[in-house]
Amino acid sequence: MADTSSIIENNLYDPISYDVVSVSAEYIKKRTTYRPEIGIICGSGLDPYIGGLAELVNKADIFPYEEIPNFPVSTVPGHVGRLLLGNLENVPVVIMQGRFHSYEGYELWKTAMPVRVMKLLGVKKIIVTNAGGGLNKAFQVGDIMVMKDHINLPGFSCQHPLRGPNDERFGPRFFPTNDLYCHEYRKLARKVGIELRLEGVIREGVYIMLGGPNYETVAELKMLREMGVDSVGMSTIPETIVAHHCGIKVFACSLITNMCIVEYGSGIETNHEEVMEVGHRRAEDLKKFVTKMVEKMSSI
Ligand code: HPA
Repeated sequence: MADTSSIIENNLYDPISYDVVSVSAEYIKKRTTYRPEIGIICGSGLDPYIGGLAELVNKADIFPYEEIPNFPVSTVPGHVGRLLLGNLENVPVVIMQGRFHSYEGYELWKTAMPVRVMKLLGVKKIIVTNAGGGLNKAFQVGDIMVMKDHINLPGFSCQHPLRGPNDERFGPRFFPTNDLYCHEYRKLARKVGIELRLEGVIREGVYIMLGGPNYETVAELKMLREMGVDSVGMSTIPETIVAHHCGIKVFACSLITNMCIVEYGSGIETNHEEVMEVGHRRAEDLKKFVTKMVEKMSSI
């Protein structure tokens, strides 16, 4: 084995290099016959244990994260963490049940590493969901906001999942993001919304990721609104950037679980229980929406 100490000292070691990620992907490939085409990352509302998407997957092969070599492991007590491979509406998918957040203490590269594993499993398209606070005044709690763009706020201070050496086998060092969120999928989402009679619920907008874990101050929200932000959350962007970098087509949406409180002394406070409750309430619609998107995305 080569001496890697100088590489590590010089901070040139790439913890999500092709070689490292291949070990995880090979482990999975040897233990399942499914070859997923679409990857799905579940945010609040699609969590399997509250009647989510996973139960629609027939005869799934299930891999707890701690079983997969080189895969990040959840340190949060009681947190679900497993990859599920199977067919959803006859489309082979891989579903990530439980994602990694920066506020839990994970480096950004770790929060996005599973996307590279998906890539090496053969994934070509990804659906990423999250819970978000609504900042657009026209939004309502329970809306599903299709992401047309994002503001990668952590990136403004050099916090980036691809910071460090670049492995060209995944993608180039420098890459554009002006069309990160696939136009065709967004168009499709509007059609699916109509088909499912969710026209008024499906919105489109710009998402921003902040580190959390606190919800935003009034001053922060006023600034974000000025910046053109429609939904605020604490995840997703590392995963969608890494997916785009390695050529996976991206569809993402935010379930608006609360409206951001952009005034002082209102007596209303954003709280986690509200966020989870709306997730539960909208779980059925979100499940139908994502399932239909999977079905349609597989043919374009
Ligand atoms: N802000 C940040 N993250 C969130 C929110 C919010 O209001 N709601 C759900 N996730």
